[in-house]
Amino acid sequence: MAWNLKNPRHFDTLMNFTTEEILYLVDQSIKVKENERNGIRPKGLEGKTIVGIFEKNSTRTANSTFKAANYLGMQYFYNGPSGSNMGTKESVADTAKVFTEMYDICLFRTFGHDKIQDYAKNSGIPLINGLCDQEHPTQTIADLQTIKEAFGGFKKLVKGEIKPLKVVFCGDYKNNMGNSWMYAAAFTGMDLVMFGPKEYEQQCNKDIVKFCKDLFKKNGGSITFTEDKAKAAKDADVIATDVWVSLGESFDLWEKRLKEMHEFQVDKKMMDMASKNAIFMHCLPAFHDMNTEYGSKVAELYGKKFPIVKNGAIEVTDEVFSDTKRNWSFVEAGNRWTSIAAIIQELLK
Ligand code: CP
Ligand code: NVA
Repeated sequence: MAWNLKNPRHFDTLMNFTTEEILYLVDQSIKVKENERNGIRPKGLEGKTIVGIFEKNSTRTANSTFKAANYLGMQYFYNGPSGSNMGTKESVADTAKVFTEMYDICLFRTFGHDKIQDYAKNSGIPLINGLCDQEHPTQTIADLQTIKEAFGGFKKLVKGEIKPLKVVFCGDYKNNMGNSWMYAAAFTGMDLVMFGPKEYEQQCNKDIVKFCKDLFKKNGGSITFTEDKAKAAKDADVIATDVWVSLGESFDLWEKRLKEMHEFQVDKKMMDMASKNAIFMHCLPAFHDMNTEYGSKVAELYGKKFPIVKNGAIEVTDEVFSDTKRNWSFVEAGNRWTSIAAIIQELLK
């Protein structure tokens, strides 16, 4: 073991956090945003260092980590998917031990959650999970922040009665973002509807489902599953989605996924069936037009068989995405850096 091995707390999985801690992080992230806008910079972390190591590409998470580090007076070094020896000539465990000797904190984006666990076990400095196949915990904080900014909280007043906000997650709900929305609803007591293929329910992570169901019992809110668009959209306050084929998954999966999910695209009809003030959220990147290589290739290959993708829009139509009043995904993207800053501050306290 390295001489300087500490006993750090990791932001590895939201299963290791309490409701109070998650709500606190959301509020801290909101404060970071306000403070930065008012020119207030926190003290205490100047000169400290953070390393990012990414086995998958990133726009938001990688750049948010830089921005957060800069705001906190820290320095950041980014290792992209081909930028280090990890995975090819060096193990995750050895990389974690090396970074322990050099840095104060690490953000790691990878494939299986077992790699996050392996890193955490071998790291003497705090680890932030920057997305894995299981969950995207920094995104959850940013998403909750976005909802709080849009609605003032996680509840609404209906005819004099306080009710949970209703969030609908559309499409690939068995995946990392589906799990992340499950945590988001369970920690804040919102009603979550998973709108996607029925068979995905059996493929959801059983530990996360159990963890969240226990939280729903304590915090209120609920989780239900449906394939009915009108039922899903009715009274919805937030309609969220994510890509149907994720980072690291094969392009060959598109046909299967389109077959399974083509009925679960977010379109104007769905938004119009939701609450009057409903917002659209997407962790991004999104396929909503022909201006991406993937979007246009999917349109070209599968547009005839699945006309909903013929214009390069896949999980969401361009009409919904371009609706600047309803689409909050760029606010959500901006909230990524404040949430990462808040998480760094807490882990390095
Ligand atoms: N939402 C998100 O994590 O985006 P990136 O993949 O660009 O980091
Ligand atoms: N499900 C997506 C989320 C990207 C932020 C992926 O894993 O690629």
